[in-house]
Amino acid sequence: MSKAKVIVTRRWPEAVERALAEEYELVINESDTPMTAEQLQAAFAEADAVCPTVSDKITEQVMSPPSLRAKVIGNYGVGFNHIDLEAAKARDLVVTNTPEVLTDCTADTAMTLMLMVARRAGEGERHVRSKEWTGWRPTHMMGTKVTGKVLGLVGFGRIARAMAHKAHFGFGMQIRYYDPYPPADEIANAYGALRCDSIEEVMASADFVSLHMPGGGANTGIINAQKLALMKPGAYLINTARGDVVDEAALTAALRDRVIAGAGLDVFQKEPTVTEALLSMDNVVLLPHLGSATLETRIAMGMRVVDNLRSFFAGKAPRDRVA
Ligand code: DGY
Repeated sequence: MSKAKVIVTRRWPEAVERALAEEYELVINESDTPMTAEQLQAAFAEADAVCPTVSDKITEQVMSPPSLRAKVIGNYGVGFNHIDLEAAKARDLVVTNTPEVLTDCTADTAMTLMLMVARRAGEGERHVRSKEWTGWRPTHMMGTKVTGKVLGLVGFGRIARAMAHKAHFGFGMQIRYYDPYPPADEIANAYGALRCDSIEEVMASADFVSLHMPGGGANTGIINAQKLALMKPGAYLINTARGDVVDEAALTAALRDRVIAGAGLDVFQKEPTVTEALLSMDNVVLLPHLGSATLETRIAMGMRVVDNLRSFFAGKAPRDRVA
């Protein structure tokens, strides 16, 4: 029997590429640069499975080659707002993602950003590397204490809960959260987390606000100037979710005018472009979408795609089907 053909749009960890090559006729984008819309469309015409990532825009047009061969999209990543799900469903394309395996590492990145921006770690590192450091002094680079402060979570899914766990048990933080679909009280109680009735309530009451909602749709620009204005002047915004959930121009103005104290950002509105304004600010920590970027997690994510494809091609329901 001939093997199914799988096209992978970027390089994946070696162990995962090897696992895929054992089961499929595998084509990998060796250049590891984003494929064009035309190349992606050709992939949908040529392969049984296309495996994209957040850097690929899987639009209706991409899924509409003259003759569609693909039957499944094995997305590498938990977020899938770069895929037009309605267009996929209309073409009977099954879509899967990679939840759970990246929860801890992404929450760790959110913790890293929170600690870095509060304790001025990026700024301090630049200071040492530029040889400007003249020695210890009591008033040098004083930051903001994290332990015991209030952490507000917008969205209370797996990653937010993992952050709540680390922040509450590791740093004695008080947790507040808002989620349109709140979990049972016992779940929130496990982290001493208090439910808020709105995003506004979280923004106004927290010392650190960390974003954990999906991107796209109604969430686009949901963290706008009005919501930022509710934050305490000494508060910080952390974003490891998606760049589009924040109105970046409004955030830039809030940071510039010290409406808020700072921000830790792993994701941006026009990734990989980061505005000159953000690049020039010292009260911002900027990371290149590193949320899940550990070898262990990136292998686990890939193996989850392998698992989903295996189920699909065996005629079974893939465990991580989202469409
Ligand atoms: C995710 O898993 O959603 C990461 O942001 C990469 O896509």
